[in-house]
Amino acid sequence: MNGDANQIKHRLSMGLNYLKLGENQKALNLFEQILKTDPDNIPALSGKIKVISQSETDEKKQELINNLDSILRKKAHNVVFPKHNPYQTIISFLQTTDSGESLNKNDYLYKLSPSLLRLKDAFKSPEVPDIDEEYNERELQKAYLVRYFPFYIETIYRELGALDPAQIFNEPDLQFSVCLYGCGPCPEYLGILRFVTDYLPDMNQLDVYFFEKYDWDWIRDGYTLCQKSEYSTKKSLKCNFHSYPVDVLSFDNGDILKRYQVIGAANIHVFQNCLRDLVKAASSYDSLYRLFENILEEMAYGSLLVITDLRYSKTRFFLERFITDIEKDMKGIVLKASLDNPEYRPNFYPDPEFTEFVKQNPSQRKTWSRYYSVIIMKI
Ligand SMILES: C[S@@+](CC[C@H](N)C(=O)[O-])C[C@H]1O[C@@H](n2cnc3c(N)ncnc32)[C@H](O)[C@@H]1O
Repeated sequence: MNGDANQIKHRLSMGLNYLKLGENQKALNLFEQILKTDPDNIPALSGKIKVISQSETDEKKQELINNLDSILRKKAHNVVFPKHNPYQTIISFLQTTDSGESLNKNDYLYKLSPSLLRLKDAFKSPEVPDIDEEYNERELQKAYLVRYFPFYIETIYRELGALDPAQIFNEPDLQFSVCLYGCGPCPEYLGILRFVTDYLPDMNQLDVYFFEKYDWDWIRDGYTLCQKSEYSTKKSLKCNFHSYPVDVLSFDNGDILKRYQVIGAANIHVFQNCLRDLVKAASSYDSLYRLFENILEEMAYGSLLVITDLRYSKTRFFLERFITDIEKDMKGIVLKASLDNPEYRPNFYPDPEFTEFVKQNPSQRKTWSRYYSVIIMKI
């Protein structure tokens, strides 16, 4: 890292600390200094918004938020996931797992069609769909792996890549650790693996902690974790995994959460596509808010909480209120609150067999994804 970048990082950490102590003017001076040399610095701009919103008019605040939004959009536009073809390996994995029958790929996909349709119908519902309990059912887990997993590898990569990772994460640490909540088969692991490889090339160790209530281990262990060479060119990167079978909703109790000490050491905490389930099952807004508040309380200074989810009105209501409350309670600084992300098309190589299957079954077509995202930095 050059001298300028080091100085920016130092000022940023002092600024965020002042913010936390309520020394707003001192914090603002540091953020302004950073923005003079690096006008697109996301944490400094978010810090400035935080200070300004306490003294200036709503218009001034809105102007800064719009500015931050356009910077993030510009950066996100430049984040392109390297081309990949997950369908090949996914379908081969499922074929070998379903022993007893030796079907070709196309016949296998036909056999899976009823589950694919059931899953799709559940997700198509405009409101929170009734699928949660069924995540435990293997046929639906297989369908999830085929229908949604490929699309969700890129989400977290796009979100983290747009943040100027070198500004936020401490490369000299050489170790990166992530907690993935409601991770299921865990496409987000592959996105993070690729992110660390492309954006944090000096890291030599990636520690991954899975928090999930249902048994998806057979897919994670048999498929996802075996894809390292497909998603990372860095042979020297060592990956360690730890799986915690737990109902994440129990983290609304701070004592339970404290049993998982890894939460206090991780660089990133990811809730990808599971907020809808949590909103549906939580007893109240307050208990879900408490869950995130408890996690933020335990999180390491400077680490990130990333929440992304598909667009459902109930998750949107939750997120809108959540962002306001987090800012008010000074639990963290909102780096991104995007409740209208544009759609994106994953960067797949076309897979001949899957393409043929979709051609014959147009109802299985899925070409794009669109989601809400909120990123908070712990201060
Ligand atoms: C739509 S899947 C998302 C999986 C993965 N994160 C992704 O992006 O594809 C939702 C996951 O959240 C898990 N989940 C739902 N409620 C949960 C809870 N209370 N505690 C732990 N996991 C939960 C489900 O079992 C499922 O694996």
